Amino acid sequence: GEIDYVFKVVVVGDSAVGKTQLLGRFAKDEFFLDSKSTIGVEFQTRTLTLHRKQVKAQIWDTAGQESYYRGALGAMVVYDVTRRATFDHVPRWVEELRAHADGSTVVALVGNKADAPAHRREVPADEAARFAEEQGLFFSEASALTGDNVERAFLALLEEVF
Ligand code: GTP
Repeated sequence: GEIDYVFKVVVVGDSAVGKTQLLGRFAKDEFFLDSKSTIGVEFQTRTLTLHRKQVKAQIWDTAGQESYYRGALGAMVVYDVTRRATFDHVPRWVEELRAHADGSTVVALVGNKADAPAHRREVPADEAARFAEEQGLFFSEASALTGDNVERAFLALLEEVF
């Protein structure tokens, strides 16, 4: 069918938080345990129907190259709930987006690896939710491994862009 809109979305966050796997889960319903570090830039697409329009989501796994933020309608900042440092760096990622993306870019915060056992968790969900609310970001935890909430997180972002 015909594509009505192309929405560019960038996924950013520290190394190994699961950006590539979240993308693979959303675009192809795939997950690879021995995921290699992303070198350069990759994107995947998925076409879906939103409000009776055919929307092609073009989702970029940028590994932090600022020039790719331009033209992004949506951005997903990802941290790993089992590594505190990746959450502590979220403000830096948000600042970078605000500096290089367009002012209207919708930003969502995603705590990935929510499948981890409780004793491995270093970031409480309510703390992240509070931070997101202060910053005016959409927030959800998700797991690229189980697929839990991945669809919902991307769809909420695309809905808001629409
Ligand atoms: P860079 O390309 O280095 O920036 O990493 P990335 O953020 O794209 O991370 P990637 O998707 O390559 O995943 C890093 C590691 O975390 C891999 O070993 C994945 O298998 C693992 N991983 C990703 N998502 C999940 C998840 O939801 N749960 C668990 N338990 N492991 C995950």
